[in-house]
Amino acid sequence: MRAAAAVATAIVLHVLLPGPLLAADEKGQEAFNNNCRTCHSWKEGDNRLGPSLHGVVGRKAGTAPGFGFSGAMKSSGITWDDASLDKFVTNPNGLVPNNNMKPFGGIADAATRKQIIDFLKSNPG
Ligand code: HEC
Repeated sequence: MRAAAAVATAIVLHVLLPGPLLAADEKGQEAFNNNCRTCHSWKEGDNRLGPSLHGVVGRKAGTAPGFGFSGAMKSSGITWDDASLDKFVTNPNGLVPNNNMKPFGGIADAATRKQIIDFLKSNPG
């Protein structure tokens, strides 16, 4: 019982105290590299299989210059923020049916999603 409480406390502390900023950034970059970098760069104007994600937070969906978006993305009416990015990365097709971000199936782990979104918010590149 006490051990379980200690583990629970450790988990709560871990969530509440993210540690030094640098470490958080590095984790975010690593999570981005593992999950998104096959198709996305965070460098401005660097469109690959997917659009550049530089400055994506606050941007209207489907408007990254020079990228051929699906009609579904262009007409989604979304402006990317924490909440919409979190939903999209959880289940792309749930938020924007018939989008072209395939075969990416989504990330179930909320902490990983948050790391990636925080990384994108820091506007690297
Ligand atoms: C298999 C390739 C692939 C992977 C992996 C991938 N994406 Fe994408 N992404 C795309 C494509 C292609 C589009 C354009 C979709 C469309 O036009 O419908 C896109 C679009 C997006 C958009 C909309 C951008 C805009 O300007 O409106 C966001 C946000 C996004 N991706 C985030 C991510 C994140 C975060 C990850 C990692 C967790 C990721 N993607 C992983 C291919 C991918």
